[in-house]
Amino acid sequence: MIDPTTIDRIFQTAQILDVVQDFIPLKKRGVNYLGLCPFHNEKTPSFTVSPSKGIYKCFGCGKGGSSVNFIMDHENLSYVESLKYLAKKYNIEIEEKELTADDLEKKNQRESLMIVTAFASDYFHKQLLQHEEGKSVGLSYFKERGFRDEIIEKFKLGYCLEERDAFSKAAMAKGYKLEYLTETGLTISKDDWKADRFNGRVVFPVFNIAGRVIAFGGRTLKSDKKIAKYLNSPESDIYHKSHIVYGIFQAKRSILQHDQCYLVEGYTDVISMHQAGIENVVASSGTSLTVDQIRLIKRFTPNITILYDGDEAGIKASIRGIDLILEEGMNVKVLLFPDGVDPDSYARSHNDTELKQFIETNEEDFISFKTRLLQKEAKSDPVKKAQLIKDIVTSIAVIPDKITRSVFIKQTATNIEISEDILYNEVSAILRKKSEKKLQQRTYESQNDVVREKKKTQIPEGTGEGEIFEREILRLMILYGNLPLFEIEQEGEQKAQVLSVAYYIINEIEPQKDILEFRHPKYKEAYEMIEEQMLTNGEISVEALTQSNNPLISSLSADVQSKAYQLSNLWTKKESFVETEEMTLTQLVPETLMSFQQHRVDLLIKESEDKLKEPLTNEDMIEILNKIKTLKSINLSLAKKLGERTIT
Ligand code: CTP
Ligand code: MN
Repeated sequence: MIDPTTIDRIFQTAQILDVVQDFIPLKKRGVNYLGLCPFHNEKTPSFTVSPSKGIYKCFGCGKGGSSVNFIMDHENLSYVESLKYLAKKYNIEIEEKELTADDLEKKNQRESLMIVTAFASDYFHKQLLQHEEGKSVGLSYFKERGFRDEIIEKFKLGYCLEERDAFSKAAMAKGYKLEYLTETGLTISKDDWKADRFNGRVVFPVFNIAGRVIAFGGRTLKSDKKIAKYLNSPESDIYHKSHIVYGIFQAKRSILQHDQCYLVEGYTDVISMHQAGIENVVASSGTSLTVDQIRLIKRFTPNITILYDGDEAGIKASIRGIDLILEEGMNVKVLLFPDGVDPDSYARSHNDTELKQFIETNEEDFISFKTRLLQKEAKSDPVKKAQLIKDIVTSIAVIPDKITRSVFIKQTATNIEISEDILYNEVSAILRKKSEKKLQQRTYESQNDVVREKKKTQIPEGTGEGEIFEREILRLMILYGNLPLFEIEQEGEQKAQVLSVAYYIINEIEPQKDILEFRHPKYKEAYEMIEEQMLTNGEISVEALTQSNNPLISSLSADVQSKAYQLSNLWTKKESFVETEEMTLTQLVPETLMSFQQHRVDLLIKESEDKLKEPLTNEDMIEILNKIKTLKSINLSLAKKLGERTIT
C-alpha cells in the first residue's frame, strides 16, 4: 500500500507534459500540446495534452486522463505500478512494509504474481553468483558463451538448481503462497508433489517496459535433443507473450536515441548484441511478431530492422507477418545472416566494429528484399512471376503513407522489369476495395458523432439501462457543478440563498434514491465521490476528481473536460457553444433530471411487469400492481412537465 500523502506528492510532481514527453514528441498549440496518439494508428495528430488541467486526451480514439492514467495505458501497468513508476522517475520515496504472509494475501492478484516473480528472479540470480552449483554449472556456462559480468548483471541472468524443488521450498519458507507460485508457472505441483519448472536450467528473466520481471525463459544445459532447449513461463495475469518483446526494458532508451530498433529471434541474440554495443535490440522469442508487439516497438520508433539467420524456410514463413508491420506504418528493413549464423554467433566471432559494419552494409528495405527472394524462386516462370507481382503489390498496398508507396512502386518496377502503371493500377485496386469498406464503417461512426453532438444541448435519449443519463448528469456536475442555478428565498431571511447545480442535482436525487440510484458502477463511484465532496466542502473539486486514485473517475473527469474544450475550440470563431450551454442550465439541468427519472420509471415498470410473469403469492401480486400504478402516475406527471404525450 502506498500512503495517500505520497500519492498526492506523486500527482503533484508528475507533470503531465513531462510524463508524456518521455514517450511522444509534442508540439505547442496555443495553451495545449499536440502529438501523434500512441494508442491508435494515426497520421494527423489528435493527441492533446493540457498542462493547466493536468490531463491528456486523444480526440481520435478517446483515451484520456491524468499522468497516472497515461502510464497505466501506455506502459500497460496497474494503478499501483504506475504510481511506483512515477515515484521512481521523480525520486519520490515510497515506504512499503516488509511483506508478511498476511500482507501477501491482501495484495491483489497481479501484484502478488509480480512479487513472487521478483523474488524468483532475485533468487535465481543469487544462486548463479553465489551457490556452488550455480557457479560451477550456470555461471561457467554463461562465461563459456562469452557473457561478461556486467551483461549478466544487466539482464539479471540466473540459475535454478538441479534439486527438484529447491526453489519452491525456499519460496514457501519465505511465505510466498503456492497458489502464486503455480499461477506464475514457477512451481509445478500435483497433490503433495512439487517441482521447479526451471530446475537444472539457466534462466533469462523477461522484463516489462517498467523494468519489472514478469516471466522467465529457461535454457537446458544438456545437449539431449529430446529435452526442449527452452522452457518458458506460461501465460498468466502478468505475462502475455504476444504483448511483450524480450529486452524492451534494456533497449528502450537506445531505441529512442537511435530512432531505430533491431529485431532478433532469441534471448542470446539480444544479449550478445548488447555486449557488442548495440543496445537497441529486442527479440520476439521464437514466435512470429504480433500486432501488439509491433505497437509496443512503435511507441519508441517507426524504424525496425529484422535480423534473420540464414534459414530460408524460416524466412519465408515469417515474411507474411511483415505486412502487419508495414500496415502499422513502420519502415521495415531486413538483414540476412549467412546460413547457420545468428546475431549471437556472429557477434561472438567478430568484433564490435565488424558487427556494426556488417549490419550497415547488408540491411535492405523489406520490399526489395521480398522481391529478390521471390524472384529467385520464380525465375522465368510467367505464372509464378504473376503471383510474385501480386504478392509484392499486396505488401506495398498496406503501407499507409502515399509517398512511401510510390517510392516502392518505382523501385519494384525497375527491379522486376515491369511498367510502373501496372503496379499503380494493382495497388490502387486493392486500396479502393479497402477504402470502400472503411467508408461504410466511417459513415456509420460519424453519424453517431453528429447525433451525439446534437444531443449535448438536448435531453439524451434513453439507451439500455440509462447509462447515457448517468453520464450526462455527471457531465453537468463536473462542468458546471459549482455554478449558481437557482436562488431560493428562505422565509425570514433577507438574502436569497443560492443553490448550485451540484446541490440541486443531489437534492433531487437523494430523496428518490429508490428510483434514481446510479446503476453503472463507474458512474456510481463518480457520483458518490462528488456527493462526498459536496458534503465535506460544499463544492466540487474537479482537480480531485481528475486526480482520483480510481482510474474510472479520473478518466471520466478528464474526458468530460476535454470534450468541453474541444467544443469551445470548435465554436470560438462564431459563437461560444459552451457558453450557450452554460446559459441554458436552468432549463437543461432540471430537464435532464426529469428525463432520467422518466427513463428510470419506465424501466422499473418493465421490471415489475416482468416479475408478474413469475409465480407469485396474492399479496406479492397486489404489492407489485400497486407499485406499477404509482410508477405510472409519476410517469404521467413527468410527461406533462416535459410537455410530451405519453401512452398510459
Ligand atoms: N525458443 C523457445 N522454445 C524452444 C526453442 C526456442 O521459446 N524450445 C525461443 C527462445 O526465445 C529462443 C528463440 O526461440 O531464444 C530462438 O531459438 P534458438 O535459435 O533455437 O535459440 P537461441 O536463442 O539461439 O539459443 P542458443 O544460442 O542458446 O542455442
Ligand atoms: Mn543461438
